[in-house]
Amino acid sequence: MCGIVGAVAQRNIVSVLIEGLRRLEYRGYDSCGVAVLGARGPSRARSVARVADLEGQVRDGHLEGVTGIAHTRWATHGAPVTDNAHPIFSRDALALVHNGIIENYETLREMLRGKGYEFVSQTDTEVIAHLIHSLYRGDLFAAVREAIAQLHGAYAIAVLHKDQPHTVVGARQGSPLVVGLGDGENFLASDALALAGSTERFIFLEEGDVCELSLDGVRIVDRQGEAAQREVRQVAAYGGAVELGPYRHFMQKEIFEQPRAITDTIPQADAFDASIFGEGAGQVFADIDSLLILACGTSYYSGLTAKYWLESLAKIPTQVEIASEYRYRESVPNPKSLVVVISQSGETADTLAALKHAQELGHKHTLAICNVGTSAMVRQTELSFLTHAGREIGVASTKAFTTQLVALFTLAATLAKLRGRLNDEQEAGYLKQLRHLPAALNSVLALEPQIIAWSEEFSRKEHALFLGRGLHYPIALEGALKLKEISYIHAEAYPAGELKHGPLALVTEAMPVVTVAPNDALLEKLKSNMQEVRARGGELYVFADTDTKIVNGEGLHVIRMPEHYGLLSPILHVVPLQLLAYHTACARGTDVDKPRNLAKSVTVE
Ligand code: AGP
Repeated sequence: MCGIVGAVAQRNIVSVLIEGLRRLEYRGYDSCGVAVLGARGPSRARSVARVADLEGQVRDGHLEGVTGIAHTRWATHGAPVTDNAHPIFSRDALALVHNGIIENYETLREMLRGKGYEFVSQTDTEVIAHLIHSLYRGDLFAAVREAIAQLHGAYAIAVLHKDQPHTVVGARQGSPLVVGLGDGENFLASDALALAGSTERFIFLEEGDVCELSLDGVRIVDRQGEAAQREVRQVAAYGGAVELGPYRHFMQKEIFEQPRAITDTIPQADAFDASIFGEGAGQVFADIDSLLILACGTSYYSGLTAKYWLESLAKIPTQVEIASEYRYRESVPNPKSLVVVISQSGETADTLAALKHAQELGHKHTLAICNVGTSAMVRQTELSFLTHAGREIGVASTKAFTTQLVALFTLAATLAKLRGRLNDEQEAGYLKQLRHLPAALNSVLALEPQIIAWSEEFSRKEHALFLGRGLHYPIALEGALKLKEISYIHAEAYPAGELKHGPLALVTEAMPVVTVAPNDALLEKLKSNMQEVRARGGELYVFADTDTKIVNGEGLHVIRMPEHYGLLSPILHVVPLQLLAYHTACARGTDVDKPRNLAKSVTVE
């Protein structure tokens, strides 16, 4: 999604800006641009192709400068065309980049037109540029502060003005922005990752902050305009570009990294101890009577899976909500409920807003399950558990999901123990099963050749149905999401018992029905549902635990999974669904790691 990089230095910073954009590329974007200040004002290059194309333009056009801003755009207002790409100029004096959405842009645009400003883009961003320009009286910092007071919505911005050659001003509200501190040079970015290689000292700006970067320092004020002292954090270099190694795509690499990611995420301790979730977690866990899980997309499905664990193991009532729905619905807050936000990136706008909403409603206990330790979500919650998936590049989340499941199972077991529902033997058993998971995953990954054979068949279909029951219904949902996201095949998931209440009408031989079939208490029920499909001529593609004894037959294709893995079975069963989606997408020739219209980190509402 949109990304910002900015810099003030004494050297040509164009390569730093381009490198920053390259590091943000994996998030998904549809245009990009860079602007630098020269003697006659800002000049820019913009591209609706990749950052590599922008780099070529910059080189050919000899674009150079010591002060600059750059951007990757994921279109919200206006198509991905050059005129809408950032940086956006105002009267060739001011350049601005923006992440987020300005909700009152139409009113502001009318007001600014009345003042003679001409609009050349369809973006909401252009109103910010003209608004700051209209308020500029020789002090960019002051003009930005005055302008943002009139903005409704979410933003992170970086702006420069021709009359202040060594200044970049930034502001944030609802979208992340970090300051990178260098020696005699300073930087700004929407993610510290963009500045890896340039600095390891960062200030994570808080909501409402405005900052001014100059050569020798950074000034920050808070929402009230008071000078703000923000902690400088040392963030170790994020490593260079992640290598693809022997894999065709990052998604494939990340699927195969899951045994390692899970090994790194499983708590080292020999017991399920509250301290795994941070200081004071024991007290918080003793205080709560329920859980409210908030997340989006794949992270939401990990929450749905966790509900089964939390309610069956710990007997604690658990509600799971899509963050973008929760934030706007009138709910009944329970201050004794622990709010759990789940996110790979920790920067998803809807989940952050839902967290804030819950806090405003009086929820005092919050826990983040997140893959990025420096993210806003981790900073804004009382407790946290970091998954150690490592950087996930593919837009389709894989290793982040399975590591979230490990974290959530750990949470369920910890709460079960604290509530006297887990004896020593059971605790030792679950710990042992967790430790054995990477090996079990390796045996599932070895099924890849059989899944490739199925994917040829799937690549010729336009629709698919996924079925699961109980603990594996969320896994069916995740399998369908993976398939539609990267292969563009329309896929739906249902709890198998719901078939007869509607979706059975869709079943024909042209609609493959993928079935998640663990050897659990619902197996016989699931088998009846499979019969319902067969009776209508539907073709079943079943991932069955070996001990289910389900075997190939007419219209019944079976891939045998290892023996049933008990409560942790969803972590194994999702992997073949990831592989099926991946290989189907490859067979259809889609851009697997960067599927159309999607972004890795969804930082707008
Ligand atoms: C998963 O494959 C998706 N690309 C998407 O649903 C993602 O899980 C969602 O946007 C939430 O992201 P987060 O985990 O970073 O909050």
